[in-house]
Amino acid sequence: MRILVVGGGGREHAICWALKKSPKVQELFCAPGNGGIAGVAECVPIQVNQFEEIAQFAIDRSIDLVVIGPDDPLYEGIVDHLEAKQIPVFGPRKNAAIIEGSKVFTKQLLKKYNIPTAAYESFDNYEDAAAYLRKQKAPIVIKADGLAAGKGVVVAQTLEEAEKALHDIMVAKVFGESGNQVVIEEFLTGQEMSILSFVDGETVRPMVPAQDHKPVFDNDKGPNTGGMGTYTPLPHIPQSIIDEAIETIIKPTAKAMVAEGRPFCGVLFAGLMLTPNGPKTIEFNARFGDPETQVVLPRLKTDLLDIFLAAINGCLDRMNIEWSDEAAVCVILASEGYPGSYSKGLPIEGLDEVQDALVFHAGTAVKDGSIVTSGGRVLGVTALGRDIAEARAKAYAEADRIRFQGKHYRTDIAKKALV
Ligand code: AMP
Ligand code: GLY
Repeated sequence: MRILVVGGGGREHAICWALKKSPKVQELFCAPGNGGIAGVAECVPIQVNQFEEIAQFAIDRSIDLVVIGPDDPLYEGIVDHLEAKQIPVFGPRKNAAIIEGSKVFTKQLLKKYNIPTAAYESFDNYEDAAAYLRKQKAPIVIKADGLAAGKGVVVAQTLEEAEKALHDIMVAKVFGESGNQVVIEEFLTGQEMSILSFVDGETVRPMVPAQDHKPVFDNDKGPNTGGMGTYTPLPHIPQSIIDEAIETIIKPTAKAMVAEGRPFCGVLFAGLMLTPNGPKTIEFNARFGDPETQVVLPRLKTDLLDIFLAAINGCLDRMNIEWSDEAAVCVILASEGYPGSYSKGLPIEGLDEVQDALVFHAGTAVKDGSIVTSGGRVLGVTALGRDIAEARAKAYAEADRIRFQGKHYRTDIAKKALV
């Protein structure tokens, strides 16, 4: 079969790497891809928002399946666009991708179906929101309604900080239209956990759970990023809690989407907080997580293409999906200055010295035949091991072989799980 993956980050590299292992995949393309993806797929210079060009490429090359990586094109309706041209595609339609695209929609859905989440109010008017806020206690959480490249959430430690965030979002419009509405939400405490599931309508097939590290510095200091490292499994979290999250949050949400006439087909990503009162929803994403995918897919033993095909053909419930017992740890190597401004085009050395890890490229490009940096998150180094300790030691040892100017990484990825 001929497959086209849309996207160009570490997540798409991991998806391409997993698809490449399938004996059914004859040709693999990625639009636009990146410097590392070029090693497993043919990169085509089409951007993720160029729906017409993507559709035309799929028709010209007789593509059998298009797989959508990132959130933006999903929310903009790429799946509807391709389906209208009879092009098979894995990912949720626009009316289901709203579960990531609008926090107000999702909070209302969770409330309506009694699915555990933080208490909240939503507002479409700054004065009302500010008046409500003044009566609350800190810490408190302010969220822009729409997509904001992972930056639309402020966990405010004081009411002053919360009011500034509210003003930035609703008045200064730092996230544009995404700030037309806000959610003001109760602050939850506990450990966070990501559960990604293959979903088709009411059928939910959870993947192995993972944990991300969002802040840029060790001990969760500094501003939030797209994610600085991940690991799986979570040996310090009882299976009963993971099962509770699946039964009380993820399955009811898939069911609720069907009941709302918005059946979800694709990867549903639940961001959960394991509070003293049980698991609660922080957010849903309508796609694979980045960098969760870089640790989850290396543990998948089943052919990923078979799972995608089962989902779009409505037989995901009959699919046998197997996972390895290994642990996986991914350490992100970022550019100096990220998530603020950073340099690009810096040469990367030592990639060929890596011996026992998967190196997923997030922000790299090929310049004059060599790999250079081109993004904030540059590489994700994933190592597997019998347990977290072994995978973690290996990931850091291998990450040390890779060199570029200003290379920054957290040194405490998966430390919590060393029990
Ligand atoms: P999100 O973009 O919704 O994943 O939020 C980004 C981060 O903000 C999450 O990973 C949490 O660490 C934090 N967060 C979001 N909502 C809450 C909440 N209600 N209570 C505490 N922390 C939160
Ligand atoms: N790692 C979090 C995300 O993909 O949104």
